[in-house]
This record gives sequence, C-alpha cells and structure tokens, in this order.
Amino acid sequence: MEVIILPDAQAVARQAAHLIAQQIHRNPASVLGLATGSTPEPMYAELIRIHREGKLDFSRVTTFNLDEYLGLSPDHPASYHRFMHEKLFDHINVSKDRIYIPDGLTADVPKYCAWYEERIRAVGGIDIQVLGIGSDGHIGFNEPTSSLASRMRNKTLTQKTIEDNKRFFAPSEKVPTEVLTMGVGTIMEARTCILMAHGARKASVIAKMVEGPLTAMVTASVMQLHPRTFVMIDEAAATQLQMADYYRFQWENKPEWEKRAFFCHADKR
Ligand code: GLP
Repeated sequence: MEVIILPDAQAVARQAAHLIAQQIHRNPASVLGLATGSTPEPMYAELIRIHREGKLDFSRVTTFNLDEYLGLSPDHPASYHRFMHEKLFDHINVSKDRIYIPDGLTADVPKYCAWYEERIRAVGGIDIQVLGIGSDGHIGFNEPTSSLASRMRNKTLTQKTIEDNKRFFAPSEKVPTEVLTMGVGTIMEARTCILMAHGARKASVIAKMVEGPLTAMVTASVMQLHPRTFVMIDEAAATQLQMADYYRFQWENKPEWEKRAFFCHADKR
C-alpha cells in the first residue's frame, strides 16, 4: 500500500483524477471500477473538468460500479444509478453501452451477479478500481465478516451503514437493507486500486485498515494484500496513523521517474 497524505479533500480529488487520466491516456479503452458516496464526488468533478478542457476522452472507456441498493429503481434519487449519472456520466462522453451499474431490480440475483462478473472478465478485468471506505471499514458494501474471498452477491447492511447512509434518503423513507455488491475477491482482482478518504470521521477506520491486523471485521484491511493500492487521504483522515511521518517522507522522496509516471506534480509538497 502506498499511503499518500494530502492537505485536503480537493488535493485528494486532483491526485486521484490525475492517476485515472494517466491510465486513460495510456490506454483509451481502459476499464474503471467506480464507487459512490460523498468521498469520490470531488474526484468526479475533477474528471469532468479535465474532460471539458478537451484533455480526456472517455469514448472507449468501460465502467463497472461496485454496488447498488436492492429494490431501488434506477431513477430513484438515492439510487447509485442516479448518483453516477448526475455526478459523472451525464457530463462526459462515456458510451452508454459501456456503463455497468448493478441492477437493483434484478429478478434473479445469483444469475445476475454471475453475469456481472462475467462482463468484467470479458473486457479483461478492471484497470483501476476507485474505492471509498465505510465507517465500519467496508469496501463496496462488504460489511464486517464478509468473506475476504467473496464474489459479487447480495448482502445485508449493518445498522451502522444504514444510519450512515440515511442522509441520502428522504426523512420519510427507509434505507433498503439489502444490496448487491462486488465481492472482496472481485475487488482484489483490479490491477490498481485507489482508496480515498477525507475528514476526521474516517481517521479511526483508516488507521485500522492500513496499520491494523488483516481481518474480515474491517474488510478494507484486505488491501494490505493488494500489490498496487494507493490510499489517498487528507490530513484529517491521517491523524490516527502511527506511521504518518514515514508515509509523508516516502511521498516527498519519491524518485523523479516514479513521480513522472504516476503523480500530479502540482500536489507534491
Ligand atoms: C457506501 C458505499 C461505499 C462508500 C461508503 C462511504 O456504503 N457503498 O462504496 O465507500 O458508502 O461513503 P462516504 O464516502 O459517503 O463516506
């Protein structure tokens, strides 16, 4: 894991968007794994900005979203379909037939999940997987005690996640308790992962994920086994990391060739 501590959420967004833009420039037919939640929003805004400046072409890119609520139609305001269209897809030139978001209305969950995984395999796997982290340490919707080898499936949310995600629903509405999510094993097959977090609210779970034991109680801790994961966080989310000074030192002393290959110079402190 490469832990990159940046001054604020905006710098995290710029750095993550830069890495994705580099990937698409290298391979215009790249496959992206995408996440929802408030964390990736500024990064999507940054990708839209780069696209509008004429510097990023999504026409051959394929995207797979991590998860969706079961029982929500794609036009429900809190659905991840709506989120992705509003925050990204409606503003870039991605081809509609290359967008995959789990279908919350599927009538046959196992068959649908097998098909979704097959689609990922058919396009050669995910080049970059974007991840946020739930306050209970989940990635996608892989709640604590999910198998670290799990594949895409339905999952029941914890009360903690239901509480956390209430803010996206109308006060009169119930948050769905069942979801579809890529499995931890599915996520681990992505060639590169970018896990982002900002704010003091995420400081404890980031410390558990990066420096705590590998455990299904914090499914994100499995990223310790992933060969190419960038953990991009702001100062507030880094406050409980024991090795924070080392991560800063490492970032500041990165060899020039590595910086050129992957990182956004403007954000180097
Ligand atoms: C949801 C999503 C996750 C996301 C998490 C954190 O549970 N399924 O993919 O990482 O929320 O959300 P936020 O970024 O709003 O803190």
